[in-house]
Amino acid sequence: MTPWSSGNTCTVILPSLCIYKEALRSRSEHTRGKKDQQNFKTRFRLYTDRAGGSCQIFVNQLETLDKCHFNASLPLVMIVHGWSVDGILESWIWKMAAALKSHHDPMNVIIADWLALAHQHYPIAVRNTRTTGHEIAQFLQWLEESVQFSRSNAHLIGYSLGAHVSGFAGSFINGTKKIGRITGLDPAGPLFEGMSPTDRLSPDDANFVDAIHTFTKQHMGLSVGIKQPVAHFDFYPNGGTFQPGCHILHVYNHIAQLGIAGITQTVKCAHERSVHLFIDSLLHKDKQSTAYWCNDINTFNKGLCLSCKKNRCNTLGYNIREESLPKSRRLFLKTRAHMPFKVYHYQFKIHIINEIQGKPIDPAFTMSLTGTKADAKNLVESITGNKTYSFLITLDNDIGDIIMIKFKWELPPLWGNIWDTFQTIIPWTKGTHRPGLIVKEIRVKAGETQQKIMCCTTESFDYFWCSSFPCLFIALKLDHRV
Ligand SMILES: *[C@@H]1O[C@H](CO)[C@@H](O)[C@H](O)[C@H]1NC(C)=O
Ligand SMILES: *[C@@H]1O[C@H](CO)[C@@H](O)[C@H](O)[C@H]1NC(C)=O
Ligand SMILES: *[C@@H]1O[C@H](CO)[C@@H](O)[C@H](O)[C@H]1NC(C)=O
Repeated sequence: MTPWSSGNTCTVILPSLCIYKEALRSRSEHTRGKKDQQNFKTRFRLYTDRAGGSCQIFVNQLETLDKCHFNASLPLVMIVHGWSVDGILESWIWKMAAALKSHHDPMNVIIADWLALAHQHYPIAVRNTRTTGHEIAQFLQWLEESVQFSRSNAHLIGYSLGAHVSGFAGSFINGTKKIGRITGLDPAGPLFEGMSPTDRLSPDDANFVDAIHTFTKQHMGLSVGIKQPVAHFDFYPNGGTFQPGCHILHVYNHIAQLGIAGITQTVKCAHERSVHLFIDSLLHKDKQSTAYWCNDINTFNKGLCLSCKKNRCNTLGYNIREESLPKSRRLFLKTRAHMPFKVYHYQFKIHIINEIQGKPIDPAFTMSLTGTKADAKNLVESITGNKTYSFLITLDNDIGDIIMIKFKWELPPLWGNIWDTFQTIIPWTKGTHRPGLIVKEIRVKAGETQQKIMCCTTESFDYFWCSSFPCLFIALKLDHRV
């Protein structure tokens, strides 16, 4: 028995014990006189669900693979952390490892602990991403030579600087074959944004590369997360700049819950959201988030990109559809502020017929879906001609096939004597015909189901009933008196 084989758990809960064991370990390692290992700054810790710890694998020490129960016939997922301010492994790492282990397909989960190189001034840690990338590449090559573990079965998940570490691992590995997959979780921006593909994570680094961008808001010309696409599929939840629930006002909640540690939590909130979105995809199989290919967030916010035709949409996180594309594809989605993050996306399309020629007119309208709080308010500035308006509305729950929409014209008080309240019109009845604004139907497209439904006016004034049937001729009209 070697001194460390009896207990290889090393948890963040007992850091002092952890340091003691590490000391033991490096002493034994020293006595073994393995030169190769001494040069490695990165520690490869196989996650063991037993007691939530890890077991260190030493390059060129085959017996450590056995001791740690590395199973070469299973895939390998390697978690690569980012820049470290306090020199300890952050708690998300253990959450991610546990979530991966809980997946129904068994796998080896290894934490690439490069704290020694990451717990440095930022520019030095940036320089060290290459060193660590090289060591991970060597580790994978050694696995291939020693136990015929194919690199195409390896999936590196790198957060922040760790995303670029993973990229370097992919580009430094020797041989013609590539690593299977790299996932970049809010890949770091400073000193990487705008660099050539060889100097950052890029789609060339693995057979398949995906990235989730969550904190690309600029501050003094810099953003924490990289803005540019770096993968085959680049996801921009909520536009990628900032995340719901991370607003500075929430600092008080965080401090109330976590004490002073809440402050750093708040700073990291949007950055680390990328990690929790990924964990969410592992934990909530029935709540997978769909994201949609779109040029930019403004177009997305109009609901114009909810198409899944020709593989235009994909699943965020672990269960993504892997497809290597010649060009990076930006995908957008909205999320909630908490796990499970999934929301349902709907495009609402309203065609307004304006019978009043000439001048722009002001009435705006609001819509609300009955039984939900989703409101689309102040959506229209002024209505000039015959026009189709399109909006994105998101809901926490699937509204099913049939919904009811309350549609309400918002009349400015001054205009009260010019506009009659709305009425339903039935074209074949004769009556005074005054020009006005007419809405015949509201078209709804559900992103998640790709279903299209039609919402039609009824005689009950401002309600639209939705179904898969086309609307009758009846329409909702706002009359203009003068
Ligand atoms: C390794 O994984 C394979 C596939 O799941 C399994 O059949 C085998 O028993 C595992 N080996 C060990 C030593 O656990
Ligand atoms: C790849 O090969 C080159 C040249 O032999 C060597 O310098 C480099 O360290 C190798 N990379 C890895 C990851 O082993
Ligand atoms: C809108 O279309 C209607 C007929 O559908 C037409 O009578 C009306 O003049 C058009 N309005 C404008 C502003 O073009």
